[in-house]
Amino acid sequence: MHLMSGTSDFFGLDMGVSAVRVVQLRGQGPFKTLDSYGQAPFAGTMALSDSKTDRQRVAQTILRLIEQVKISTKNVAVNLPSNHVFTTVIDIGRLPAEELAKVIHYQVDTYIPTPLAESKVDWAVIGNSPKDAQKVEVLLSSVPNDFIEKRLEMLELVGLNVIAFEPDSLALVRAVTSTATTAPCMVLDVGSATTDIVIVSAGAPRLSRAIPIGQQAFITAAAQTLGVEPAQAEQFVFKFGLSHDKLEGKVYSAIIGTVDTLVGEIEKSIKFFAERYSGIKLERIVVTGGASTLPELPLYLANKFHINVEIGNAWRNVSVPPARQNEVLAVSNHFAVAVGLAEREI
Ligand SMILES: Nc1ncnc2c1ncn2[C@@H]1O[C@H](COP(=O)(O)OP(=O)(O)OP(=O)(O)O)[C@@H](O)[C@H]1O
Ligand SMILES: [Mg+2]
Repeated sequence: MHLMSGTSDFFGLDMGVSAVRVVQLRGQGPFKTLDSYGQAPFAGTMALSDSKTDRQRVAQTILRLIEQVKISTKNVAVNLPSNHVFTTVIDIGRLPAEELAKVIHYQVDTYIPTPLAESKVDWAVIGNSPKDAQKVEVLLSSVPNDFIEKRLEMLELVGLNVIAFEPDSLALVRAVTSTATTAPCMVLDVGSATTDIVIVSAGAPRLSRAIPIGQQAFITAAAQTLGVEPAQAEQFVFKFGLSHDKLEGKVYSAIIGTVDTLVGEIEKSIKFFAERYSGIKLERIVVTGGASTLPELPLYLANKFHINVEIGNAWRNVSVPPARQNEVLAVSNHFAVAVGLAEREI
């Protein structure tokens, strides 16, 4: 991997479960202009498959999309799906930078779930520890080498030059929050297979978790309980969501158990944050992802946690030509990760 400092010549690539998305911006500074963007669906489960044919199909889908939307560079910043990334926040004694690096290097094995020799580890000091004045807070993340290498190999095969990998959780937050606001908020990306929960405070992520519940789980629950085919279940879920009064509340009853499992995980995250940063109050939840706008889901979250829930706008920090504003807003829910990657200051 080659890190080119100062290049603005790259695009963001989000390889999701259901589709691939690309975004290229131009210009300098925090507010760049949209150049090109687009998405192409992944059929079935090909994005998750390790088979050679599926990997080739994924590569071809990416290549065709890049050509179709006329991405003008081979340099790419690529996502790492949260369910493959381990993220934690640790407290470490306040030390000069060089010594801190050594201490973390020696201790890191005890914090990450995979063997150090087989993992790529990244860390950054994000502030003072809220628990101990002698310590600093360090955001630590690790990814299995194996996963990175496979992704790198695939992208090099289609002639791309990977300049950065970034976890979904970080890219996402860059897109849907403003760098100017420091008030703590939660960002929820309710995706196809996974929901990412991120809590950001004073400009840095303080908690990041991936929950294996998303649109597919809601649809499976609806299909099983209502005894209908998945395609029909999907229509029901998106049409009626959590409304009690539609279809005699049948869809609500079918999916509420699954929704509440997810809500329970959100609650745990809120409690963890409140306990660690006592006195700092979460101001709002920003939701994005394909399933985030399920009818009445935002309302359900708002009532449950007595907190403002907003629909995130993936393009909030991007200047979009007026003629394209409607079309980009229509897909905003699906683009937070790709836009966030394209917004990186490399
Ligand atoms: N205009 C649209 N574009 C793309 N997907 C859409 C659109 N409208 C509805 N959907 C639904 O949203 C789902 C995709 O949601 P999302 O973009 O959050 O998934 P993903 O990023 O691929 O998943 P994950 O983040 O779990 O990898 C699709 O399965 C599709 O059914
Ligand atoms: Mg996604």
